[in-house]
Amino acid sequence: MVSRVIPVDTFDLVIFGGTGDLARRKILPGLFRRYCAGQMPRDARVIGAARTDMDSAGYRDFVRDAIEEFGGGRDCEDGTLDAFLKQMDYIPIDARGENGWPELAQHLPDSARVRAFYFSVAPGLFGDLAERLQLHGLADSDSRIVVEKPFGRDLETAKALNASLAEHFKESQIYRIDHYLGKETVQNLMAVRFGNTLFEPLWNAQYVDHIQITVSETVGVGGRGEYYDKSGAMRDMVQNHLMQLLCLIAMEPPAQFEPDAVRDEKLKVIRALDPVEPHHIVRGQYDASADAPDYRSAVNDPRSKTESFVAMKIGISNWRWAGIPFYLRTGKRMSTRYSEITVVYKARNHSIFDEQAGDHRNVLSIRLQPDEGITLGVTIKEPGPGGMRLVDVPLDMSFAEALGEDGGDPPDAYERLIMDVIRGNQTLFMRGDEVEAAWAWTDPIINGWTARGDVPKPYASNSAGPTDSEQLLARDGRAWREVNS
Ligand code: BG6
Repeated sequence: MVSRVIPVDTFDLVIFGGTGDLARRKILPGLFRRYCAGQMPRDARVIGAARTDMDSAGYRDFVRDAIEEFGGGRDCEDGTLDAFLKQMDYIPIDARGENGWPELAQHLPDSARVRAFYFSVAPGLFGDLAERLQLHGLADSDSRIVVEKPFGRDLETAKALNASLAEHFKESQIYRIDHYLGKETVQNLMAVRFGNTLFEPLWNAQYVDHIQITVSETVGVGGRGEYYDKSGAMRDMVQNHLMQLLCLIAMEPPAQFEPDAVRDEKLKVIRALDPVEPHHIVRGQYDASADAPDYRSAVNDPRSKTESFVAMKIGISNWRWAGIPFYLRTGKRMSTRYSEITVVYKARNHSIFDEQAGDHRNVLSIRLQPDEGITLGVTIKEPGPGGMRLVDVPLDMSFAEALGEDGGDPPDAYERLIMDVIRGNQTLFMRGDEVEAAWAWTDPIINGWTARGDVPKPYASNSAGPTDSEQLLARDGRAWREVNS
């Protein structure tokens, strides 16, 4: 199945932090893939801006290296990269001073084109950049700014960031990225729920026993120890990525697939989350493995109390979900890279079969990565003449197989999100009140750990996390779905 590509309007995109890691790994290769796919117009311009002293020719070399290292487009013909590079410029700029701003203005003469500014810099610079864009008359009422996580480290800092952006830009101009929302399979959560009649009638407390969300990573903190140790799994993954997954699974159907309709429904979920009891959370820190150091060595702090794993049981106090637990877990240095959402249905309310039929439940698993797909466990008769014994078998669909070769290899989240910025579609971006509500729920949990001096439980690298995480579900007579190895 060949996907349709609709070119976006032509644009000027300024990447502040244009020589940084995110630009190199994601933004620039992503733009190039959209160029190859025919979605980025041939007269669009990309301007890297950073403190590094470099000219445009030097930047084109930088971009070429980035694309060669982190992947070009598979549909690219020879010579396309050279043509793409001609659309790149670079300006050395000082976010907090005056250097470079008049030059940047000269590069943006045409106010009729879509103008977007990507703040791929430390959050401490967001306010300065926003202010200077207005001061130098570079932004108009249709210009967009794109900001990355971490969007604050608690409610107070998130509010301050929102306020400093709001001084210069309207909410409709601010695109807060959570790259999970750009993943094809995360968007598929909405397609599965709201594009089928089959699931939605059973998507509630009457039929669902519980829901599990697992985002398991094999990587450790790597070279990001300094950042990670100040964040931990709760701030780095739960407050944003897992929260977004939870919202898409739990929200009411929006009246339309439109930015504020979707974001209103997600916000209602976050506001309905119960506070989490301390005994409903398990924190963990990974031990060394044969080939990698333990967490504390990786972050260079032998007494670090930061969690690299967290599992929790969450309740949602609303009509649809009251009484139904949502179990979330995420961790680094786990046995396998695997993200999945599992809906476990209640047992049938009456069995016409005798005891040997056994206790069976339907289980719907939505695999986010890798091998995106859906598996529905269906109960059937075990073959043979020995009476009515029941067995669960999977109705298993891999999206890549179902969509054929050309449907596989979905675009990277950043490709999709950057094009949405240009199109002016905020559906897959977090609104300011959503981010604040997520922090308002997260803060008491983290503050509780700090106040109690809570120390995370050690867990073996290449495992499913601390054994207490199993206990969290076992106490309720349930078990995590096995993390595939
Ligand atoms: C980032 C986190 O936001 O998401 C990382 O900061 C994490 O710690 C990453 O590894 C996971 O993203 P993905 O797309 O690899 O699942």
